[in-house]
Amino acid sequence: MPFKHKKTLTQFLIEERRRYPDASGDFNALILDISLACKAIAKTVAFGELEKTAVEIDLNVHGETQKKLDVLSNRIFVQMNQWAGHLAGMASEEMDDPLDIPSEYPRGKYLLLFDPLDGSSNIDVNVSVGSIFSVLRAPDDVTYPITESAFLQSGAKQVAAGYALYGPTTMLVLTVGNGVCAFTLDPMLGEFMLTHPTLTVPNETQEFAINASNSRFWGAPIKRYVDECLAGQSGVREKDFNMRWIASMVAEAHRILMRGGVFMYPRDNKDSTKPGRLRLLYEVNPIGMIIEQAGGRVSTGETPALEVVPTSLHQRIGVVFGSKSEVERIERYHTEPYEVEQTNPLFNSRSLFRF
Ligand code: AHG
Ligand code: MN
Ligand code: MN
Repeated sequence: MPFKHKKTLTQFLIEERRRYPDASGDFNALILDISLACKAIAKTVAFGELEKTAVEIDLNVHGETQKKLDVLSNRIFVQMNQWAGHLAGMASEEMDDPLDIPSEYPRGKYLLLFDPLDGSSNIDVNVSVGSIFSVLRAPDDVTYPITESAFLQSGAKQVAAGYALYGPTTMLVLTVGNGVCAFTLDPMLGEFMLTHPTLTVPNETQEFAINASNSRFWGAPIKRYVDECLAGQSGVREKDFNMRWIASMVAEAHRILMRGGVFMYPRDNKDSTKPGRLRLLYEVNPIGMIIEQAGGRVSTGETPALEVVPTSLHQRIGVVFGSKSEVERIERYHTEPYEVEQTNPLFNSRSLFRF
């Protein structure tokens, strides 16, 4: 049988571009630069403590102490993407303000937003982390130096979104608004190869992910949903559920793409200054676009998340995403009145820890 190699990311992008004869090639070049950044981060993550690079650690804009790899990954994203002339500006979880393209480089028509390392608290324990990115078009009336207002576009306006997952294998998952496909890094060739041409989120699921340590702060609709999952076969859902919490949203999104499920980090009443845990522009919107392009759904619980018009660059938001029917159920629970038992459902008679 003749040798047939899998399609590389470059080949995939060239074939996609042939459908748009007027395309300049800028977009493809941008995706390739992003993929190069992800490969460089994959290498840095894989070398771990073998590679000693001195970096200055600080608090980021969210008041979180940066990890060394947060800083390095951010630096890699900036360096790989600032020079080629495709971007009008960049914004990142690890940079307080938007980054203007340095004057020695040409400016382009796209904006790149990223979480350079998602789940970085997992670095020390050698659990999967990833990078998340979102591509927007710069507004026609953009002014320079670029300001936050250029980035304040709803998730529905994204041109492309994706993530790289640094797990047992490194994968790149991408949408350009035409479905979702995934590439696996061949570490010998240094190329992302198309291994999953069409990804769809299964609609039926028996798996949910939520940080249950926050349960006393949840609103009634989330309490009801989780309580019903915990009740399993003996409750209204009439089936047993399984629970997962990796604390790398990117890894949870990947699991949901592969086998369905629902992920929740809802707005809760733990801290009134924080309207949610995750960040709208570079976490929720790109993951949301991927999930919806794969036939799933993303919501704040109350409204479709991709329709939310951002008011600030680092805005946080509550989010629920995954299998469509489960997210719709949670949205429905936000519209129905429901009496919540005052006891914590995790520890009462219908408890996880019941014998
Ligand atoms: P980051 O590492 O970019 O700050 O993001 C971490 C996020 C997300 O990936 C994860 O789902 C969540 O924080 C974990 O939150 P808890 O610490 O509450 O589990
Ligand atoms: Mn993150
Ligand atoms: Mn991060």
